[in-house]
Amino acid sequence: MSTSDAVAVRFAQVGDVPAICGIVNHYIAESSSNFRTEPYSVEEWADQLAAAADRFPYLVAEVGGTVAGVAYASPWRPKQAYAWTAESTVYVSPAHQGLGLGSLLYAELLKRLEQQGFRSVMAQITQPNPGSEALHERFGFTLLGSIRDAGYKHGAWHGVGIWQKELAPLADPPAPTAPVER
Ligand SMILES: CC(C)(COP(=O)(O)OP(=O)(O)OC[C@H]1O[C@@H](n2cnc3c(N)ncnc32)[C@H](O)[C@@H]1OP(=O)(O)O)[C@@H](O)C(=O)NCCC(=O)NCCS
Repeated sequence: MSTSDAVAVRFAQVGDVPAICGIVNHYIAESSSNFRTEPYSVEEWADQLAAAADRFPYLVAEVGGTVAGVAYASPWRPKQAYAWTAESTVYVSPAHQGLGLGSLLYAELLKRLEQQGFRSVMAQITQPNPGSEALHERFGFTLLGSIRDAGYKHGAWHGVGIWQKELAPLADPPAPTAPVER
């Protein structure tokens, strides 16, 4: 990234999906940060975006007009009482790591989830992953505990840390979460 490359965080659009898949599929193939072993197809990701983007923010970071990172939220669990608890996910392309894009994406994602009325954001971080742990700590997530040897990938067992950030004081009863506002 050169100093003249404009950086922007914006909502993901369907035209971004091939670039998003390229980034996420890289980490599926090369790391254990994502427990999938099969790559996403563009259609699968486009369906996911279409199904969820009104309820959860799906954001991309662009550098010089190229999609270099993605962050989005999803339900932590499907049962109704979990409606105020989201899960966050973030990936930055290998060429753009450590330059602040993950932080830009998370600042916007967490701000929007708070505005929508979510109470908590959860993250699951495969161990070891010092970069992701540093990012989550920076944004106020705390490690609640770990699932020991939660998954086996690339010839090794990996634990998964369960991280939580509380966004808002408790309301009783809570108002329904608001849809994504563009
Ligand atoms: C984790 C990830 C999203 C972080 O994004 P990023 O743009 O590289 O992070 P930033 O440049 O915004 O840095 C955020 C913080 O993490 C720290 N950090 C980043 N990479 C690090 C590393 N490899 N080791 C230790 N700390 C690291 C930075 O110093 C910074 O901390 P600071 O604010 O206290 O200085 C990115 O590295 C990535 O995509 N990794 C591979 C996929 C992945 O693991 N995704 C998360 C799945 S849970």
